[in-house]
Amino acid sequence: MTNMSILDNRPALKAEIDKVAEVAGYLWQKGWAERNGGNITINITEWVDDAMRALPAIGPAVPIGTKLPELEGCWFYCKGTGRRMRDLARDPMANGSIIRIVDDCMRYEIVADLPVAPTSELPSHLSVHNYLLAKGSPYRASLHTHPIELVALTHSRKWMEKDVATRMLWSMIPETKAFCPRGLGMVPYMLPSSVDLAEATIRAIDEDYDVVMWEKHGVFAVDTDVMSAFDQVDVLNKSAQIYIAARNMGFEPEGMSDGQMQELSDAFHLPK
Ligand code: 13P
Ligand code: ZN
Repeated sequence: MTNMSILDNRPALKAEIDKVAEVAGYLWQKGWAERNGGNITINITEWVDDAMRALPAIGPAVPIGTKLPELEGCWFYCKGTGRRMRDLARDPMANGSIIRIVDDCMRYEIVADLPVAPTSELPSHLSVHNYLLAKGSPYRASLHTHPIELVALTHSRKWMEKDVATRMLWSMIPETKAFCPRGLGMVPYMLPSSVDLAEATIRAIDEDYDVVMWEKHGVFAVDTDVMSAFDQVDVLNKSAQIYIAARNMGFEPEGMSDGQMQELSDAFHLPK
């Protein structure tokens, strides 16, 4: 543990970072976070005070690789690149850092606690935060993880077709549509950490998905906070596990009927 932290005497900010650490522990326990797999960023701007704004950077300004105008004056907590979720769960400020956007929204600099370089998926995370702010969305968290059963689905053309996996996953158990009402968007394979992947992710979120599948890689989820983003991925992966359990018992699961799905959508006032 570090001795002094920017989180000292900032209980609201600390509570948000503690949520990231709690979710990081769940990702490890679920087997979704091998080695350094996955990353989390949260927009912490609303918890930044004048004393924080006055702090000097602890490293040089680093190019983001693109200009993200909505991020002017924004601050983020980011998992560190190469850092393990299981380590972050124990000590979030030694395995991630707080950054601020500077220089006409083209660079970031690390402010605290330690010079831990942010995740390699920063282009996707920051582009998505930029998109969310432009839309006036209340979402402040983005989560990328490698859930085993959901990733397995993407190794089949059938499940990569638009909304085919969504319909199957929703029909496994009523909670899935209730708690992931926009379903699962699909993004074809692209190089991890690339700007192309970031742009494709935004196109999928713009089609009205909160959770987007990166083919043969993982999911990218957005929500108001990191716990809610995790919950959406968790219910989807639970459905994938039920599907696989049924197949392992030797049959194709029936799934809820169209009538049952409609009744659920009406009762819970769900979209689509
Ligand atoms: P980082 O360690 O750079 O966050 O990368 C992990 C990952 O899952 C890349 O897609
Ligand atoms: Zn990944």
